Amino acid sequence: MQIKNDLLLRVIKGEKVERTPVWLMRQAGRILPEYRAVRESVSGFIELAQTPELAAEVTIQPVDLLGVDAAIIFSDILVVPEAMGLPYEMIEKKGPWFPDTIGSAKDLKRLQIADPAESLNYVLEAIRLAKKGLNGRVPLIGFAGAPWTIFAYMVEGSGSKTFSKARAMLYQNPVLAHQLLEMITQTTIKYLKAQVQAGANVIQVFDSWAGVLPPYQYREFSMKYIRRICEAITEAPVTVFAKGAYFAMEDIKDLPCEVVGLDWNMDIATVSKQLNGEKVLQGNLDPAALYAADDVLVAQTKKMLDQFQGDRHIANLGHGVYPDISPDKVKLFIQTVKDYSRTKNKA
Ligand code: CP3
Repeated sequence: MQIKNDLLLRVIKGEKVERTPVWLMRQAGRILPEYRAVRESVSGFIELAQTPELAAEVTIQPVDLLGVDAAIIFSDILVVPEAMGLPYEMIEKKGPWFPDTIGSAKDLKRLQIADPAESLNYVLEAIRLAKKGLNGRVPLIGFAGAPWTIFAYMVEGSGSKTFSKARAMLYQNPVLAHQLLEMITQTTIKYLKAQVQAGANVIQVFDSWAGVLPPYQYREFSMKYIRRICEAITEAPVTVFAKGAYFAMEDIKDLPCEVVGLDWNMDIATVSKQLNGEKVLQGNLDPAALYAADDVLVAQTKKMLDQFQGDRHIANLGHGVYPDISPDKVKLFIQTVKDYSRTKNKA
């Protein structure tokens, strides 16, 4: 299907565009009262994510309500461990929690490389319904966690400041760690291919916990598997968002991916230089800037757009939008990107 607002896809192809496209990580979620209403109609996040009609509905909400240039399918990175045989729960105000974790070769035997057409069909169905509902208005982004980030949750069992259990395994049992990473990678590749088949136009790989590893381990236990995913997903452009991985930019430059996501700690000029114009950049306003007064938010957004200097940029925050941010601030951010980048591109 022809996509009407295809700014995002044209930027990724390297075309000159009339203005900078903009979307937000976690745009489908608690910032919107309309999302909270849908969520309250079910038992919680997991039921919402597993009900394709509702997942499609909240995927489309930010397109209607905020005016973003892309939708991202409403799901979670933790559906992958669940499909492999390790279910999770979402604890209100606390986040994800796994009743069972992986700590030994025996635990690994309980896992399988998942067939997405079976155990993740609810996500694929949500993608198909979201595509129908979007009716070509904007592109749809599919996603998965990077193998290291998924591994971190499967071994740790929950979020953590240090992920010390997960990192301990890299030292104590690197063979087991690689076996688990291999299973996650194979599942993820099949899952992302199925997402594209179902209608996703762009794929984003979230390595949210890249920043907890030293560079040499990052290369061995994360980049290696992200590279496999980038090499395998040839059907759609891929964005790699490795939060905190400033030290890995030289390696990221060499990945066969089209877009690199920057978090808000990353210096735009430094990263641009390291990537040497070879990637489209996505990001990276500090999510806390949306707590600022309107004039400050506008000034910070313009400053960010100036620093990215033009065509090969997709505007976003440096991480997911915080749930207590006012939708009006999000709208102001989006409108500023649209208006200011249009005047710049004319000049
Ligand atoms: O709008 C979108 O970005 C699409 C939906 C999306 C969700 N999770 C929905 C969600 C996406 C892309 C994710 C990815 C995700 N999930 C990541 C990678 C991105 C990142 O933030 O670094 C990670 C690490 C997770 C794991 C996860 N899921 C955590 C740590 C939490 C709890 C934190 C929180 O915000 O409550 C979740 C829950 C979650 N995933 C929510 C949403 C909308 C909140 C659940 C709710 O509605 O109560």
